[in-house]
Amino acid sequence: MSKATMGLKFVFVWCMLLGSIQLSVGGRERHYKFDVEYMIRTPDCLEHVVMGINGQFPGPTIRAQVGDTLNIALTNKLFTEGTVIHWHGIRQLETPWADGTAAISQCAINPGETFLYRFTVDKPGTYFYHGHYGMQRAAGLYGSLIVDLPKGQKEPFYYDSEFNLLLSDLWHTSSHEQEVGLSSIPLKWIGEPQTLLINGRGQFNCSLAAKFINTTLPQCHFRGGEQCAPQILHVEPNKTYRIRIASTTSLASLNLAISNHKLVVVEADGNYVTPFEVDDMDIYSGESYSVLLRTDQDPKKNYWLSIGVRGRKPNTPQGLTILNYVNISASVFPTSPPPITPLWNDFERSKAFTKKIIAKMGTPQPPKFSDRRIFLLNTQNRVYGFTKWAINNVSLTLPPTPYLGSIKFKINNAFDQTPPPVTFPQDYDIFNSPVNPNATIGNGVYMFHHNEVVDVILQNANQLSGIGSEIHPWHLHGHDFWVLGYGEGKFKRGDEKKFNLTHAPLRNTAVIFPYGWTALRFKADNPGVWAFHCHIEPHLHMGMGVIFAEAVHKVGRIPKGTLNCGLTGKMLTENGHY
Ligand code: C2O
Ligand code: CU
Repeated sequence: MSKATMGLKFVFVWCMLLGSIQLSVGGRERHYKFDVEYMIRTPDCLEHVVMGINGQFPGPTIRAQVGDTLNIALTNKLFTEGTVIHWHGIRQLETPWADGTAAISQCAINPGETFLYRFTVDKPGTYFYHGHYGMQRAAGLYGSLIVDLPKGQKEPFYYDSEFNLLLSDLWHTSSHEQEVGLSSIPLKWIGEPQTLLINGRGQFNCSLAAKFINTTLPQCHFRGGEQCAPQILHVEPNKTYRIRIASTTSLASLNLAISNHKLVVVEADGNYVTPFEVDDMDIYSGESYSVLLRTDQDPKKNYWLSIGVRGRKPNTPQGLTILNYVNISASVFPTSPPPITPLWNDFERSKAFTKKIIAKMGTPQPPKFSDRRIFLLNTQNRVYGFTKWAINNVSLTLPPTPYLGSIKFKINNAFDQTPPPVTFPQDYDIFNSPVNPNATIGNGVYMFHHNEVVDVILQNANQLSGIGSEIHPWHLHGHDFWVLGYGEGKFKRGDEKKFNLTHAPLRNTAVIFPYGWTALRFKADNPGVWAFHCHIEPHLHMGMGVIFAEAVHKVGRIPKGTLNCGLTGKMLTENGHY
């Protein structure tokens, strides 16, 4: 044996040893290469330009174990625009620079450049990732991220096998066209999505239901290899399946149902909930769930799985696929029509579902008291004739220098130094359109002390004109929060007595219902700068978000690659180091 091969063998043995040592500690390094690019695809049987990763749409599913460290080398293969990816639901403890939010945690990655996201996944659950720059999520930049329990540990529920469904909505206009429309006078609204996608697949104008009604439609015949052919769920009778569901929709609130089958909800946003059974479930953008499905129905039939729009007047056909009992062919059509999506504006029904979600026993409970309470009024406004969303009358416009660096290095002229208002006028009438519709734009920051316990009361209100109030799913980066309660009308003194302090579910996304309020509590225990925003992408684009900064002086060494733009970029070139 030559010296060289002996050496190689030696290295190999060492790697194996190292590998097993790392395994026994629990945390493994996992390496991924993500090339972000535009691609031509036919996700709904029509040709569109979508954003994809490594030639895939949606991007590849990341599957890791609790304690693993992910190393994702993201290369921007777009021709003319920057990009970033946010790991939705991952708290980024001690790695706030890896949160993947352009202008907040990092500079956008330029075309041709590679940025390494390195972070640990510390909690089991169903998550996803998506673009967080401009409207790249609407363009299709998303994928699933699933974190399993460490080997040997068991989930608190039993299942034989699992499926993963990533839900999204698709427009036939490009995200750029949508962006320009939203930033125009008068506003050109994006309208309702053309197609709903399940794992990136849908059927425009050729819903499977149409096939059910009229089997002769030629464009509705799938051989299975098409990019738009539905992904069928093949099941064996009398088994239990875990279905992971996450919604990365740009706009749509969804309802999911499977004909004849009950769903038992067991997980929400990577947190266990007290299991409860439903016929159908609502899923807002930014939320993820696990449900258990018992295949206890007639195994000589197939069944529909449907998703439909709720919360806004729908103008989009249902997204469909088939639950196939494997004893029969998947091409046998279900004998009854797909489940009907509950009425879009039956908000009482939506609230009833949402309120069923309570923490599983053993979930950490919220601190009994908070150190401070902030009220965030959600309104639609005008700023210099533009239509905007505003929080306490301030519409968020992100600064050119990302906050994490500018706060850490005390670059004072990087953003508005006056913090935004922590409440709104007491006499604001939430039931009518604003008397003075004008708001301002701003990029100030809510600053929290380390470990401060913060209550956020999200207050919904009437829309800009006419009568009506929309649903908004609010998502917090860097944290799970406890949902303390939902209420009708304006939050008033005494309402805090109704807070649920014993079974408050931990979530990272919570919805506010029309004309209502939602109360959240979280502990500012994660040094960094975190976005808190409506997960409806066009709303965020129109300013519907705020920025929280927590004990940024405690943030560790920020990688240079996140700082090379704006005033932090200037600092780097002037000092050469920091
Ligand atoms: Cu999934 Cu800031 O969003
Ligand atoms: Cu919104």
